Amino acid sequence: MATLPIRKFGDPVLRMTSKPVDGMDEGIRAVVHDMIETMYAAPGVGLAANQVGVARRIAVFDAQDDLGARVLINPVIVDTEGSYVYEEGCLSIPGRYWEITRPAKVTVRALDLDGAEVVYSGDGLLGRVLQHEVAHLDGGLLIDLLPKRVRKNVLQELRDENLGLR
Ligand code: NI
Repeated sequence: MATLPIRKFGDPVLRMTSKPVDGMDEGIRAVVHDMIETMYAAPGVGLAANQVGVARRIAVFDAQDDLGARVLINPVIVDTEGSYVYEEGCLSIPGRYWEITRPAKVTVRALDLDGAEVVYSGDGLLGRVLQHEVAHLDGGLLIDLLPKRVRKNVLQELRDENLGLR
């Protein structure tokens, strides 16, 4: 196992639509194990594969319950309910947090590392991390959900930071 460098805002891989995994193999298992180690080292509660430069539909998360690290392969959101404001951050935009509105409860269907179907359903941190990671796989970032005017200012700040202007 190894920790991998986490791609930061501005890296084009974060905006890519990731390709589905079409079969479990040693390569996929190795990526997942490295992603889990990278997530815990960061530290973070979720990580999508494109955040470590692998544009495949893979994510890992730990919703800080007694189940520990879990894997989502080819996850799909199959149901959402309600609306909820929650403070979110992202390992690809370190040190920044925003109040983000998303559905309160979500149900996600995915495969685990054995290729078996798994379903996760929840609200709070679990619901939030599931939605955040699935969005990454379609090139989504939490800042996309900010109100337009706020988003414009945040994008300007992040671009200036990347250019070394701040
Ligand atoms: Ni993120």
